Amino acid sequence: MKWSTQQSVFSSFSCRLSTFIALRTSPFDLFLLFPFYIMTWKISTVVVLATLLPSAFANPSPSNLHQVCTKIQRAVSSSSTVFYPGSANYTADNAHWVSSSTESSACTVEPGTAADVSVILKLLGSNKTPFGVKGGGHITNLGFSSTTGVQISMRRFSSVTYDTKSQTAEIGAGMIWDDVYTALEPHGVVVAGGRVSGVGVAGFVLGGGYSWLTNQVGLTVDTVAAYELVKPNGKIVSVTAQSDPDLFFGLKGGFNNFGIVTKFTLKTFPGSKFWGGVIAYGPDQIPAVEAALARFANKNTDPKAEIIAACNFMNGSMQIDNIMFYDGPTPPSGVFDDFLNITSISKDVSTRSYLSVVQAGQVPAGARGAFHVATILDFTPTTIAAVVNETTFWGNKLAADGAFLVSYNIEPFLPSIYSHGAASAYPPVRNAGYLPINLNFAWTPAKSDAVFHSALKQSALQLTDVAVHAGQAVAQAPLYTNYALADTPMERMYGANLPRLRAIKARVDPGNVMGLAGGFKF
Ligand SMILES: Cc1cc2nc3c(=O)[nH]c(=O)nc-3n(C[C@H](O)[C@H](O)[C@H](O)COP(=O)(O)OP(=O)(O)OC[C@H]3O[C@@H](n4cnc5c(N)ncnc54)[C@H](O)[C@@H]3O)c2cc1C
Ligand SMILES: *[C@@H]1O[C@H](CO)[C@@H](O)[C@H](O)[C@H]1NC(C)=O
Ligand SMILES: *[C@@H]1O[C@H](CO)[C@@H](O)[C@H](O)[C@H]1NC(C)=O
Ligand SMILES: *[C@@H]1O[C@H](CO)[C@@H](O)[C@H](O)[C@H]1NC(C)=O
Ligand SMILES: *[C@@H]1O[C@H](CO)[C@@H](O)[C@H](O)[C@H]1NC(C)=O
Repeated sequence: MKWSTQQSVFSSFSCRLSTFIALRTSPFDLFLLFPFYIMTWKISTVVVLATLLPSAFANPSPSNLHQVCTKIQRAVSSSSTVFYPGSANYTADNAHWVSSSTESSACTVEPGTAADVSVILKLLGSNKTPFGVKGGGHITNLGFSSTTGVQISMRRFSSVTYDTKSQTAEIGAGMIWDDVYTALEPHGVVVAGGRVSGVGVAGFVLGGGYSWLTNQVGLTVDTVAAYELVKPNGKIVSVTAQSDPDLFFGLKGGFNNFGIVTKFTLKTFPGSKFWGGVIAYGPDQIPAVEAALARFANKNTDPKAEIIAACNFMNGSMQIDNIMFYDGPTPPSGVFDDFLNITSISKDVSTRSYLSVVQAGQVPAGARGAFHVATILDFTPTTIAAVVNETTFWGNKLAADGAFLVSYNIEPFLPSIYSHGAASAYPPVRNAGYLPINLNFAWTPAKSDAVFHSALKQSALQLTDVAVHAGQAVAQAPLYTNYALADTPMERMYGANLPRLRAIKARVDPGNVMGLAGGFKF
């Protein structure tokens, strides 16, 4: 089914419905939720106006913001455009995957060249104007890629060029992975990017990046050859391991702390025929799936095989959507047989392109939503049962607060995944096979935000406790930046790297220009 029409209509309501096409979502669901989208959009506008509080260094008064928008408009080249409330492009530039991380900015700007990004960043810095930098807009933390100041949308950085000789691809910072895979397909190569449809390149790479190739090549940061970076002082530089080893280390997990990235050069890997897709299991099959998951997590040694088992509580009951991937046209027998043998409620598995595997995985976005994370070392029958228990426990409990989806992703990578790369901002530890469990809660009423945020924290602690009691040394294990809630302590994500990161930050951004943008700050 094609959803392009609905997508363009709905995108004007500050949310990405393209990712809404879940296995279990009917057009009827979209219809039902539509009034809530309008409602939450209005509420967020009010909340946003109420939170326009000046901070020590920022100057966000409405008239000042408007002046800065006008200055930007005058200063940039014809490759870039400023948009104001009322234009569909303004709405699209502010839109996020969940409307709870969308804000109403004073204006938006779509830079078309790195030189214009430099002009914009210098103006924002000298005027101390709060701003946001958005790639694919998939982060669920409010203010991380949104703002009530000037919203920079990187969407015009949308080209991919493949270099056969170096086997690398230069990828624009405004892209989503789906479009990157489409562009690389004719060359018979892939990159270590997003595993489901719609996710942005920039935040994903700048935070770490767990991909379908992670067992084989490490995190996406381990595959970066170069960043084209507009530094806070406006200088446009190519950052590589040779040109500036410290900054290169910092950018591998450091998000927007060091400037605005306009282009990523990533290593490519050969491949055009892959195997995979999604099998959905109903409540009756959960014990069999739990057993199969435990066997896969402990017995699979083939780095080409990966899964994401999403334990989803939606509409009053639990199901497990198991997304499977194999780097090759057919998996050897034995690897996925357990999963294929269990009776399912739907099955979409075949030999297909990389893009097709990724687009088989659609994560439903509710009106409001947030991610969080628990890190463990081993998916055993005990820890898997705990994940299933948390899914049903919170799924039932949060129904009264307007839950739309309560979801936990089990991602049993090989313990060797951190051995493929050099030191990086994230992960701070590379000698243990830490496995992030992604918690993804979605709900409708804005008044329930605090309830869901606190449930996410409580549940992540519970899962950690279960693992600790089972003998896993994870009480202080690193938490993945791209899954962590906004108030997660920096020490829990960057660990012993923090002093080095703070020193790099002080050198590259002495005036703390990037402090005017939200996100995890060194
Ligand atoms: C459905 C879904 C599936 C996901 N699957 C995975 C997965 O398989 N593996 C995984 O590792 N993660 C996954 N994630 C998490 C994902 O990596 C983060 O949400 C990521 O931040 C998304 O990138 P984005 O560009 O869309 O984010 P945005 O919201 O646009 O940006 C996120 C952060 O990056 C900063 N940023 C964006 N662009 C730039 C730039 N050009 N220069 C400097 N800073 C910038 C922003 O300011 C912000 O702080 C998933 C998320 C969702 C919602
Ligand atoms: C969820 O429940 C609603 C109302 O009971 C129903 O109309 C809808 O089809 C259900 N959706 C799924 C995916 O089961
Ligand atoms: C505004 O957005 C539409 C839809 O994406 C696009 O076709 C159009 O070119 C944009 N306008 C400008 C000036 O960028
Ligand atoms: C499981 O799958 C394999 C391979 O497809 C098949 O040979 C075997 O008979 C199946 N076992 C059961 C119990 O269905
Ligand atoms: C299920 O989870 C809840 C909430 O974390 C917890 O209180 C309860 O003890 C768990 N039950 C089992 C059997 O683990």
